[in-house]
Amino acid sequence: MAPPHDDKAAAEVNDEQIPKRPISNILFIIAMQTEASPLVDKFQLAEDPDSVFPKGVPWVRYYGKYKDLNINIVCPGKDTVLGVDCVGTVSASLLTYASIQALQPDLIINAGTSGGFKAKGASVGDVYLASDVAFHDRRIPIPVFDLYGVGSRQACSTPNLAEELNLKVGKLSTGDSLDMSPHDEEAMVANDATIKDMEGAAIAYVADLLKVPAIFLKAVTDIVDGDKPTAEEFLQNLLAVTAALDLAATKVVDFINGKSCSEL
Ligand code: ADE
Repeated sequence: MAPPHDDKAAAEVNDEQIPKRPISNILFIIAMQTEASPLVDKFQLAEDPDSVFPKGVPWVRYYGKYKDLNINIVCPGKDTVLGVDCVGTVSASLLTYASIQALQPDLIINAGTSGGFKAKGASVGDVYLASDVAFHDRRIPIPVFDLYGVGSRQACSTPNLAEELNLKVGKLSTGDSLDMSPHDEEAMVANDATIKDMEGAAIAYVADLLKVPAIFLKAVTDIVDGDKPTAEEFLQNLLAVTAALDLAATKVVDFINGKSCSEL
C-alpha cells in the first residue's frame, strides 16, 4: 500500500513491493472471536499453545495449512479486566505489528463486520472489499497534520478478486466508536466512505509501515444512515452476517491459493 500522493512514484514503489511469487503465508486479523471462530473451524486451524506473542497479552493465534497456504488467524482476544473482545484501533495496531514481526506474512486480510451507508448503495449482508481506508476521528486542524490525521491509504489492488467473486468495492472509514458523532459523519462523507469499521485504517498504517500488502474484507451488519439504533442492529445481525463474511473469506482464500499478489 502507499499513501495517495505522486501517482507515478507510488506506482513504481507499489510494483517493487508487490511480490511476483505465489502467496504462501496469509495472516487474517479479525477483531471479534464471533467473526473468527467459523473460519478457524473451516480451515481446521489449531490454537497456538506456545504463544508467539509477549507473555500476558490476550492476543490469540490459530494456525494451520489449507491447500498450499499457511494460514494464521489472529484475534486481539478478550480484555483482561472486562472480558469483552478488544475491538478498536489500539489493539489492532499492536496485534498487527507483533503478528507481522512474528509471522512474516505475504498478505494480510483484515476481515470483519462494518457499518454501511445506504446512500452509497450498502445493504445489510453485503460483503465489501475496501479500495481505500482512512480515519474519521483524528481531528488535527493544522495544515498537513490534518492529512496525517485522516491517514488515507490504498488497499492492495485486487481487481481480479473483486470481479471473480463479484464483491462490492468501496472506501472504508475507521474510528474508535461504534456510533457516529456529527463530526464523524462529516469526516466519513469527506472520506467518501461506503463502509465504516473500528480497525481497518490502523491495520493499514502498520502494514504500510512494514511493507506488507493488505486487503480489507468487510460485511455490513448495520446501516449507518438508517433509522435503527446502531448497537441494536449490529447485535441483531452479527451472527447471520458473520456467516456471509466467512463464506466470502473462504472464497477469497480459494482464489488466492496458487497466485501472487500481482495476480489478485
Ligand atoms: N462494525 C459493525 N458495524 C459497525 C459500525 N457501525 N461502526 C463501526 N464498526 C462496525
